[in-house]
Amino acid sequence: MDKNEFYLGQDRVLILKVPNLESWLVPLLNEFFTHRRNCRSSHKVNGRWENSYLDIDSVPSARIPMRFARTAGIEMLGIRPVLLFEPLSRSRSELPPFWFNIAKPGELTGLHDHAHLSILSAVVYLQADPYSGNLYFQKSDDIEVVPEPGKIVIFPPHVKHGVRINQSSNERISLAFNLFPFPLPNQDL
Ligand SMILES: [Fe+2]
Repeated sequence: MDKNEFYLGQDRVLILKVPNLESWLVPLLNEFFTHRRNCRSSHKVNGRWENSYLDIDSVPSARIPMRFARTAGIEMLGIRPVLLFEPLSRSRSELPPFWFNIAKPGELTGLHDHAHLSILSAVVYLQADPYSGNLYFQKSDDIEVVPEPGKIVIFPPHVKHGVRINQSSNERISLAFNLFPFPLPNQDL
C-alpha cells in the first residue's frame, strides 16, 4: 500500500500524483516515441542502457512534471530547488539533468543514487502497470512503490534505490530528473 510520504532515517520521500494527466502524460509519451531513436545513452549495465537522454526541445512536456516537483520542494520540503532543462555545464559531452528509463519485460535497475551535485531527485511514471517493477530503497525492506502512470516519487539524491524486475508484458517508461541548489554548483570544484 502506498503512503504519500515516508522517512528513511532522516530522509523524507514524497509520493504524489502529477495532476491533469491528460494535459502532459500522453503528449510526453508521444514526444518520447517520436524522438526515441535519437536518444543518447549514458552507460550500459548488465546489457541494458541505464539512462536515455533527449533534449528538452524534443520532449517539451517533460517540463510539466519537473515544475511540479520543484513546487513540491518549495511547498512541502521548504527548499527552493533550481530547475534546469539544459546541462549544468556548457561542455558538449554534458547530458541534460533529466532522462528516460526504459525497462523491457524481464529487465531491472540495480541500486544507485543521483547524488551528483543535485539537491532533489524525482521519478515520474509514464507507461507502467502494477507489475512493471516496484521502486525500492536500500534503507528499507518493507517500503516498495508500485508504479502507476502519473505517480511521482521525490527523494533526496543520495538515497540509494533500485527497481524490481519488470514482470509485465510491456516496456516500463519513466522520466527521472535532478533539481539543483542555488547558487548552482560549479562543476570545476
Ligand atoms: Fe534512479
